[in-house]
Amino acid sequence: MEKINPSIDFDRKMYRQDIRGSIAHARMLAKQRIISAADARAIVAGLKRVEAEIDAGRFRFKVALEDIHMNVEARLAELVGAPAGRLHTARSRNDQVATDVKLWVRDAIDAVDDALRNLQAVLIDRAEEHAGSLMPGFTHLQPAQPVTFGHHLMAYVEMIGRDRGRFADARKRLNESPLGAAALAGTSFPIDRAMTARALGFDRPSANSMDAVGDRDFVAEFLAASALCAVHLSRLAEELVLWSSEQFRFVRLSDAFTTGSSIMPQKRNADAAELTRGKSGRIIGSLMTLLVMLKGLPLAFNKDMQEDKEPVFDAAENLQLCIAAAAGMIADLKVDTAAMRRGAAVGFITATDLADWLVRRLGMPFRQAHHTTGRLVKMAEDRGVDLVDLPLDAMRAADKRITADVYKVLTVERSAASRTSFGGTAPANVRRACKAARRRFLGGRKA
Ligand code: ARG
Repeated sequence: MEKINPSIDFDRKMYRQDIRGSIAHARMLAKQRIISAADARAIVAGLKRVEAEIDAGRFRFKVALEDIHMNVEARLAELVGAPAGRLHTARSRNDQVATDVKLWVRDAIDAVDDALRNLQAVLIDRAEEHAGSLMPGFTHLQPAQPVTFGHHLMAYVEMIGRDRGRFADARKRLNESPLGAAALAGTSFPIDRAMTARALGFDRPSANSMDAVGDRDFVAEFLAASALCAVHLSRLAEELVLWSSEQFRFVRLSDAFTTGSSIMPQKRNADAAELTRGKSGRIIGSLMTLLVMLKGLPLAFNKDMQEDKEPVFDAAENLQLCIAAAAGMIADLKVDTAAMRRGAAVGFITATDLADWLVRRLGMPFRQAHHTTGRLVKMAEDRGVDLVDLPLDAMRAADKRITADVYKVLTVERSAASRTSFGGTAPANVRRACKAARRRFLGGRKA
């Protein structure tokens, strides 16, 4: 029991939230004349001393006292004596812990949002810098159509924008105060739940006391948003691993985010990217841990719920590491635009432009243009040349109406520049998209 029961080894992380909740509770008890003003003053002063001791690393946590709530209260009793015993009036550890975890998750959401905002700012800066840098756009990891590097980076700005939306959405639903639900049924004391809710920055008290202590939806929502965000970062990380590989050489990661090999002196391993990719596993795992823990739990509080903390702490910490690593890698990235440009000129990458030309100039239905282009690609393949190097007479063998004008659309520059539809990759679009993204996501500011 001594080993399975306590949570102090991990829930000590919430000491600030615990003390904040207790101060709000004590002040409310005094205002409602449930305890005396003098007792409340002694409690609040004592709690501030406890916080200072923990801040300074001078607090001795006791496993025998189980959790952060009892550790703080026991020390408070040592410091202020009798008044400490009145703090737990009209409260239970059940509403107390729900309040603490909510405050902790809310702080984590705010910190993650700041970090994601910064990542967006870094991505937008690099995207603007590379609004005109050509690279191959891939589908099935095969060269598909030329795009710009800036456009590719801006795709992540959108993904991160949706992540921020999910965190913000979770925050809104989270923001009801469980404090005052007591053990599960409410209390017979004349408490003012609206007052403590306000003091703790909640929008309102939660409406049902059993739900208040039995709810961990906010943890699940935070972890779900974290898991999807981690998945996004794993995709970016994978691209960095690919692009920095000898086979691509599109980018070079800075020394700060790579390591050497202990045996192969030539190696520069993309460790930060690989760990960002790998850590998505444990963050998804945390979401699963939480959901399975909650599944089938009867109302209201059950001790199972103590198992919510380690996954949420671990996910928040590792998500922050991944976001910081991603921002650092992108900010430091050396981009080899020549290698990207070379990579964009392979695999008959302007075949779609050729088909579009046949549609526009010869009035061919797209399906037929697709077929004719297929024949031209085959021809170019047989000769070992790119489409732009196919002589005009060879082109005319496929359709005698083709003119030299077709070569204008077959360069990668023309191809990318022609993609001017809204959301398309044309450099002018990307520049506009960067400006719009600064307004949408950063309040107009630069990184
Ligand atoms: N340590 C507990 C937790 O983390 C606090 C709540 C305990 N409540 C109880 N009735 N045992 O959830």
